[in-house]
Amino acid sequence: MSKTPKKHTLPPGFVWGTGTSAYQVEGAWDQGGKGESIWDRFSHTPGKIKNGDTGDIACDHYHRFGQDIVLAKQLNLNSYRFSIAWPRVQPDGRGEFNSIGLDFYDRVIDCLLAKGITPFITLYHWDLPQHLEERGGWTNRETGLLFAQYTAKVVDRYSDRVKFWTTFNEPWCTSFLGYQAGVFAPGLKDEKKSAQVAHNLLLAHGLASQAARRAARQPIQVGIVLNLSPTEPLRPDNEEDRTLAEEGWRRDCGSYLDPLIAGTYPQSVIDKIGDFEKEDLKIINQKLDFLGINFYMRNVVSKLAKVHPIVGAQYTAMDWEVHPQSLRLLLNRISKDYNKPVLYVTENGAAFEDKLDTSGNISDALREQYIREHVQQCALAIEDGVDLRGYFAWSLMDNFEWAEGYSKRFGLIYVDYATQKRTIKQSGHWFARLAAANAIEM
Ligand code: GCO
Repeated sequence: MSKTPKKHTLPPGFVWGTGTSAYQVEGAWDQGGKGESIWDRFSHTPGKIKNGDTGDIACDHYHRFGQDIVLAKQLNLNSYRFSIAWPRVQPDGRGEFNSIGLDFYDRVIDCLLAKGITPFITLYHWDLPQHLEERGGWTNRETGLLFAQYTAKVVDRYSDRVKFWTTFNEPWCTSFLGYQAGVFAPGLKDEKKSAQVAHNLLLAHGLASQAARRAARQPIQVGIVLNLSPTEPLRPDNEEDRTLAEEGWRRDCGSYLDPLIAGTYPQSVIDKIGDFEKEDLKIINQKLDFLGINFYMRNVVSKLAKVHPIVGAQYTAMDWEVHPQSLRLLLNRISKDYNKPVLYVTENGAAFEDKLDTSGNISDALREQYIREHVQQCALAIEDGVDLRGYFAWSLMDNFEWAEGYSKRFGLIYVDYATQKRTIKQSGHWFARLAAANAIEM
């Protein structure tokens, strides 16, 4: 006798989306009056990106967004998360705005709305105007003030049609990977600057939230997106491992969630920030209408040195461990520790080697399984009482994966970069059925 799989229905109105970001998909890096960004500069610097790849053309989404939105509709998405390239709408990050760039996002928004897809806009997904970098970039507090001015401009322009706004995508990546590890733009290796940047980004979030609410033409929802990898002990019954894990959680998650939601910093963070003013925490601690969580993997720690690879664990092409249960734990912990905020999973997905078969299909069973198992954990978290409102798969289509260039594919849609041909992968067809049913097989 075959067992019928149990179906778990998600709450009515649950958001099913995918995400992209401007630099990863748009291309047209110097067209339509766009200014240079730190990612243009970084990717044009030899040795920074695998295979010398750049985002100059990327998925050519700047010219093909109409077709891409038709595909998003075929995936039955009710929402689409994308970012505005600051230097496309304000080439120097200060002064003049660029009407061609502003018009471009008007057309993207209108095209989404015409298809019944709700836009979720990210104001900053890492592509700072290079001009501002030359004035200190995020190490300079003034950049936050300019970011708030840019925010006011675009919220004034688009908020008659756009309700969901996030200030920053993954400030940890900008501060740590950009200023300490040096693997992301602007490519610095300076621990002190990195700490200052983390603070300045949170401050800029506060200033931009205030600016967005002032500029809004209708009640809007303002949030931020964090990449939160929970730290877990290799040996859950070992006290030393548990202590290490808790320290990791406080450092990686607490140092962002505490200031944003509770208006406090761990003392260890304050000690590291050179330029800190008394009022800063009040500015950072704005009302958050929602928190976006990007989840890909957990961190595993142990007093024993070796935690990688974990025996029996599965890893993606990024060498990230697949461990879906950690998503449910993470959602529950945030919900419990921070008074039940409204949550969205704003990114989740996986890179695996994709191959076109002879009939032109991509059977990416591993990606489908990855997403299925994570959505199952989301459904369980909702059952636990977590106020989770939506799930965005990363990504709509294969795109420029930062330091990895085009070597890693995360899309539900395959992109042939030589011809710009798009092909919906098996995972994409499956996701379309999931979104239409609003129910997941358990
Ligand atoms: C991120 C990024 C994406 C990445 C994805 C996979 O927010 O880290 O938003 O740009 O492509 O996370 O690494």
